Amino acid sequence: MQGSIQELIVHAYESAIGRRRGDLVTPALILDLDVARRNIEFMAERLRGFRMNLRPHIKAHKCPDLAGLQIQAGAIGICTATVWEAIVMSRAGIEDVYIANEVCGRDKISALATEARRGHISVAVDNPANAADLSDALRAAGSTMDVLIEVDVGMGRGGVRSPEEAVTLAQCVSRLPGLRLRGIQAYEGHCMLEPDRTVRIRKAGQAMEHAAEVMERLSKAGFPCAVVSAGGTGTYDITGADRRVTEIQAGSYVFMDNFHGNLVPGFSRSLTVLATVVIRHERTVVLDAGLKSIGVDEALATLVPYPFYKGEFHEEHAIFGIDDRCELMLGDTVELIPGYAPTTVNLYDVYHVVESGIVTGIWPIAPRGPGHAGLAGKAPKG
Ligand SMILES: Cc1ncc(COP(=O)(O)O)c(C=O)c1O
Repeated sequence: MQGSIQELIVHAYESAIGRRRGDLVTPALILDLDVARRNIEFMAERLRGFRMNLRPHIKAHKCPDLAGLQIQAGAIGICTATVWEAIVMSRAGIEDVYIANEVCGRDKISALATEARRGHISVAVDNPANAADLSDALRAAGSTMDVLIEVDVGMGRGGVRSPEEAVTLAQCVSRLPGLRLRGIQAYEGHCMLEPDRTVRIRKAGQAMEHAAEVMERLSKAGFPCAVVSAGGTGTYDITGADRRVTEIQAGSYVFMDNFHGNLVPGFSRSLTVLATVVIRHERTVVLDAGLKSIGVDEALATLVPYPFYKGEFHEEHAIFGIDDRCELMLGDTVELIPGYAPTTVNLYDVYHVVESGIVTGIWPIAPRGPGHAGLAGKAPKG
């Protein structure tokens, strides 16, 4: 997958290999591979226990190497948020890629249809016009694709709003050449961060009841659902235990940022940003890791050794009010746990992969940002 630009970027960071984790040019994104592997294995083991398939969402890490580890641990494939993530993963050799979102726009649909000539790619739909556009592009590209009907089970984002709408869309999809209807997506995103586990269980249960009603109506209309894709890190062991669901889409468990925090036990923090103390006053330390280096969208980033200090984040600076417990001096490096991992990762070219405290690899983050990195309209190799 990684063309020459990717290889050049990785190469530019390779001088860090062999350095200690606290001795990198800052800000630097650090992946503690020992911890990430444990998280990946823990999730795989728990879902095996439920006899549930795992299709990890890779929007958090955007990294073919990490996706490869998830597949090795037993994942049946991956899901992505964007068509560009899907193409990169497919070209990296991930055999089963599902875009857990609707894809709209001529160039994106065309790129997707072209890639589907090579790999097994599927996509969510919630609208007949969008399904027709997909079908047209597939016909032009000479490819076919599986689709899942997205059902809104309470989040109010994508998804058909009623069982009737699901049946109408299923009828439409079944008539469109190139599309194969496989089932539904019932992502219960509105339950994910409910702090009270009892409430989370109740809300996720209600969401799956709604999904089950849609499935029944689809089945009666002649469209049985072989695939029911749902769940995330916050509900993996709730929705994961639901026999009506066939696969879980959890993603953030690999990193466990502050946003996902201690929502579900058994996972640890594997992603940090290394920063340098660039200003130090009696009651203030300032780090060179601001909003352009760390995601704080959903929760604030915290200092690993001093989780109790609250930071203020400017573009290039993080400002922490401190007291006598803080031993950081000018020029010291310190690691931060991101508030939100997906937007943090999106800011970096690569992970500094650390094992036993030493950088052992540089793994690319691709594709970053909203851009397509030249993927639009480019025919796949092979
Ligand atoms: C459709 C869909 N599935 C799964 C996930 C994964 O959630 P998490 O990263 O919380 O595991 C998300 C996250 O936004 C999502 O949008």
